Amino acid sequence: MSKKQKWWHNAVVYQIYPRSFYDSNNDGIGDINGIRKKLPYLEKLGISVIWLSPVYCSPNDDNGYDISDYYDISPDFGTLNNMKALINEVKAHNIKIIMDLVVNHTSDEHKWFIEAKSSKDNKYRDYYIWRSGDKNTPPNDLKSCFGGSAWEYDVTTDEFYLHFFSKKQPDLNWKNPQMRQDIWDMMNYWIDLGIGGFRMDVIDLIGKEVDLKIKENGPKLHEYIQEMYENTLKDKDLLTVGECWGANPDIAKLFSAENRHELSMVFQFEHIMLDQNGEDKWNLKPLDLLELKRVFTKWQTELKNEGWNSLFWDNHDLPRIVSRWGNDKKYRVESAKMLAILLHGMKGTPYIYQGEEIGMTNIDFNGIEDFADIEAINAYKERISLGYNEKDVLKSLRAKARDNARTPMQWNDEANAGFTKGKPWYRVNPNYTQINVKQALADKNSIFYCYQKLIQMRKENPIMVYGDYELLLPEDKNIYAYKRTYQDKTWLIICNFYEHNVEFSLNGTGKILISNYENSCTDLTKGKLRPYEAIIYEWIQ
Ligand code: GLC
Ligand code: CA
Repeated sequence: MSKKQKWWHNAVVYQIYPRSFYDSNNDGIGDINGIRKKLPYLEKLGISVIWLSPVYCSPNDDNGYDISDYYDISPDFGTLNNMKALINEVKAHNIKIIMDLVVNHTSDEHKWFIEAKSSKDNKYRDYYIWRSGDKNTPPNDLKSCFGGSAWEYDVTTDEFYLHFFSKKQPDLNWKNPQMRQDIWDMMNYWIDLGIGGFRMDVIDLIGKEVDLKIKENGPKLHEYIQEMYENTLKDKDLLTVGECWGANPDIAKLFSAENRHELSMVFQFEHIMLDQNGEDKWNLKPLDLLELKRVFTKWQTELKNEGWNSLFWDNHDLPRIVSRWGNDKKYRVESAKMLAILLHGMKGTPYIYQGEEIGMTNIDFNGIEDFADIEAINAYKERISLGYNEKDVLKSLRAKARDNARTPMQWNDEANAGFTKGKPWYRVNPNYTQINVKQALADKNSIFYCYQKLIQMRKENPIMVYGDYELLLPEDKNIYAYKRTYQDKTWLIICNFYEHNVEFSLNGTGKILISNYENSCTDLTKGKLRPYEAIIYEWIQ
């Protein structure tokens, strides 16, 4: 073993988007007490970590990713005492909680920003990034991820401040050491309350050099992360995962190689961007399976001895994978299981996004009025003003809008999918009458039990955690196949990515460990796969 074993190496993480998970007091908004009620469900699934999207005080311009107080809980979600109770209760279910750490920016309603914008010589002024300029001409052409300029003019002090997201999310100035110290103090406050780690929002932006127009991976990024480690994470044995849209394997190694004392792993998005043309996620193109194989294989291979991979299809920013790269109609169950087996068979720490384990799908949108997310609404306005036709704009939004992931969790077939007895804050997917947790738990062949088994297999089989990965049948346009090897064992993971029957020929025989069909073939010299069939074999050669 080239590296020390860590508790999070065989962990599976479950992401909760609290607003849409479970509403305990019927105000239409999911909350912390709702999560507490569902801990037995999560324990049954077998996950060992919850990543909790932000529950801090927030005016909700970006659903909690605009924080106005890092030390307190938004009344939408409950109280600090509810949160302390949750942190305590998860232990009895063998679960740890990692919190979202959103420190690239705050809300414009955070007290630091209110102070900062009150005058140029305020002591918090330098916590943010200000540049002078004529009020109609921003300091440069940096763009916000949510559309338009990244600069907003402030009348009171006649300067612009930087915001890489909405204008209600001013970027913090990481060059200010006092600001960094305040962040370390805040992180230590949560660590002392007993959390198991952090998911770090757009962390690769904190080293930005705005005058050089460097956004991601700025020159001081790793210096800041190492300083963070020294002041907060060191000797704590936490799981830390950084969201890094700009990562390649070399960058991921800088973050996650053990001897560098930075993070446990990063989220990279190379596979996620394979169905877009260029930089713009709204420019759609079909997924090419050969590309997907190439990208996953690159990451599996390059992080083999140094660093660690995270494995995910879905999160609160992405459309539902079964609708995206599976088949959410006739083969919903088969394809959702195939995608689960394909991903969970790899080396790294898997993340499941709420509802993925029951095969929740994208939702239908009629027109722009059905979207709630700031990103979608801004993209719509921007594209229409650039002259795109509305039909195409809506097609892109339907495919990629973050709203797809944010519809309420479907618990049962009662009103509002059992999510709330009040009026849900956002639309419930009408397919809840068929797709829901109650149904999944009652059906022993459900997607839920496939995930449950994959999680259990990871706990019991070191080969799944530490085995080497090798791509097989690299040129096959329909099948994704790879093997894992560890000590004297070999596993074969083989998946038909499409809805027609396919054949393959390898050698030896396979002992089936998990499959999404009855009676999968075991003679690997005359292999056959039905639509979306996926199997993990112990490979006897
Ligand atoms: C991350 C979050 C996303 C948010 C953005 C700004 O990408 O996942 O939801 O809008 O950062 O905080
Ligand atoms: Ca509520």
